[in-house]
Amino acid sequence: MRALIIGLACVMVAPLAMARAIPNPDQRPAPGNEQQQTPIAQARYSTPVNYQLQCAGCHLDDGEGSRANDTPRMKDFVGHFLKVEGGREFLVRVPGMSQSALSDAQLADLLNWLLREDGMAGKSMPAHYQPYSADEVARLRKVSMLNLPDTRAHLIEQMRALGIPIKDGMGNDTP
Ligand code: HEC
Repeated sequence: MRALIIGLACVMVAPLAMARAIPNPDQRPAPGNEQQQTPIAQARYSTPVNYQLQCAGCHLDDGEGSRANDTPRMKDFVGHFLKVEGGREFLVRVPGMSQSALSDAQLADLLNWLLREDGMAGKSMPAHYQPYSADEVARLRKVSMLNLPDTRAHLIEQMRALGIPIKDGMGNDTP
């Protein structure tokens, strides 16, 4: 009989315990957290800060990338994409870029910053570089890339055909 009463009591208390998981509509933010976070597209951080926040987690600070995480090296290499057909579009359409929370203008600035001879792209840059504009980024990022590995492999093949040494750190570097 006692077990039955305890059992019944548990069944009756359970919904109350579960009810605690439902957010309290009167809940207030913790002190010091009252302000909503500014979305990064409106935060007006500098381009290097945008890189730190949106890209460096995978690509690392200096664009070295990480073979273990399938992230190619951009340092001294990424500029070669501009020398092959489809490469300019590819750089905007990779998901880390096109799907980032940055605005079109911020992404254009970020690309133009990466693609500087004194920046990550270094000596891989072509002689005549046409900077990206916000409009171009807007147009390109809307079109998704359906088969990234094949698209990328084809670009790397075109580089090889031009005699460009491959140094993307993905295990197929030219010796
Ligand atoms: C979650 C990890 C991740 C984040 C965050 C990320 N990327 Fe990437 N990025 C990758 C991977 C992995 C690739 C290789 C292609 C692929 O699988 O998407 C890549 C490819 C690229 C490429 C093409 C280079 C090549 O050799 O294929 C560029 C350029 C690039 N990323 C720039 C950026 C920029 C700029 C940002 C920040 C706005 C960014 N990525 C954010 C993981 C990331």
